[in-house]
Amino acid sequence: MTGSLRGRLGLPYLGETLAIVNRPYDFARRRYERYGAASQTRFMGKRAALLLGKEAQELVLTTDPLTFPARPGYEFFIPILGESLLLQDGPVHSAQRRAVAPALHSRNYPAYLDRMNAAIDRVLATWGARGQRRFHRDALEIAFRMACSLVVGLEVGDDFGTLSRNWITLLHGLPTPFRLNIPGTTWGRALAARQRVDRLLLQIIATRRQQPDEDMLSLLVAERTADGRPLSDVDILAHTRMLLFAAYDTTSGVMSWILAELLRHPDALRRVEDELVNAAPLTFEALRTTPYTDAAIKETLRLHPVGPVLTRGVLHDVEFAGTIIPAGWVVLLIPPFTGRMPEYFARPDTFDPERFLPPREEDKAHRYAYVGFGAGAHTCLGANIAPFEVKVMLARLLRRFDLDLVPGQNLQPRYLPAARPASGTRIRYRQKASFSGRGNGAL
Ligand code: HEM
Repeated sequence: MTGSLRGRLGLPYLGETLAIVNRPYDFARRRYERYGAASQTRFMGKRAALLLGKEAQELVLTTDPLTFPARPGYEFFIPILGESLLLQDGPVHSAQRRAVAPALHSRNYPAYLDRMNAAIDRVLATWGARGQRRFHRDALEIAFRMACSLVVGLEVGDDFGTLSRNWITLLHGLPTPFRLNIPGTTWGRALAARQRVDRLLLQIIATRRQQPDEDMLSLLVAERTADGRPLSDVDILAHTRMLLFAAYDTTSGVMSWILAELLRHPDALRRVEDELVNAAPLTFEALRTTPYTDAAIKETLRLHPVGPVLTRGVLHDVEFAGTIIPAGWVVLLIPPFTGRMPEYFARPDTFDPERFLPPREEDKAHRYAYVGFGAGAHTCLGANIAPFEVKVMLARLLRRFDLDLVPGQNLQPRYLPAARPASGTRIRYRQKASFSGRGNGAL
């Protein structure tokens, strides 16, 4: 017996969008208690099925992408990001993904490591010997500097300044529901910024075609499609925008969350320090064999996934949990809820990296309950490089400073414009007496 989905739809166009993106866990918990794994709502102007639990995540993320295509779910990105991987499905997506993947392969990390170090040190150099900071601001700058350096090879200078200013203005457009191109409005400014970003990126693409560098853009320029053709400027531009976008808010969010979690769990901090601080020198090889820190990053993403909602379209009717999800709707997955379900994770609200290590390996016992980097056709292409960036950041920070959390701050999640602790992770820091301050050599 299959029935229709139950649940209220909310306001006429907006539906329950604000409740879903601002308080995804609370919203999903109420729905789960009342309706179980499947219910209906309205999201960004579309009828939506809210699907909860590991079976839902497996069904939606791993079924043939032509049943649950990504494009209808993420159409609202198109004016900001253009046509890139998250907006593509089927054979076009597979071909473009094959072309982008080599730029993110781990064989490139040794070359990327120096650029990561430089991006972090540039930010840490502004801190002085002791003080207090809202770390999330630094995390945003570190992540942006890393992304610019790794993706397009910009670290300093006028072009870096232009890209940085316009990129921030462009991203401010993303959450605004008022999308009329009127100069001076958030949306109008975002569209103007996109034109300036595109002009600059096209210039850099032209330069890299003549003179390759050690950045991802140069690898995209060198890439050939299955029939031997180079990627077009339009494709490279879209992928470059997508890589900059994917590497910014996500990585900075994880950096802020993991620092907050480690500083309030001293035992976990000590074990991360054993791998990243006490094991010198900090080489590419040393950073690859850090099982506890890798588990701590997963645990951070289980508790605080950077994307609170993953969404897809529905191309034909699908049956799930005794109901029919109609064609033409979108489906919504809420990883912050499913990742905390006690059916899958012991003491689910506790930060406990050991759950990802043998013998427990709770994620393996319940596949698809944890989807920190997604799953299936659109699995994050940065799933290896992003943890590597987080480890480089932690290593350089913890080798240089003693840190603690400013007491009494609000570490509840905030999702707009970017996922982060509400307080922005306020820290006190003091430079270690052992830090010689001679740049990379000291680390
Ligand atoms: C800790 C940081 C990061 C997290 C948590 C994260 C998470 C995710 C998730 C969950 C998805 C899948 C979205 C969906 O299925 O709807 C995704 C897609 C993607 N991510 Fe990441 N990401 C991170 C960092 C990065 C970085 C650093 C890059 C590249 C430099 C990157 C590149 C991508 C790309 C290209 C896609 C789209 C793949 C496709 O559609 O085929 N991500 N990411």
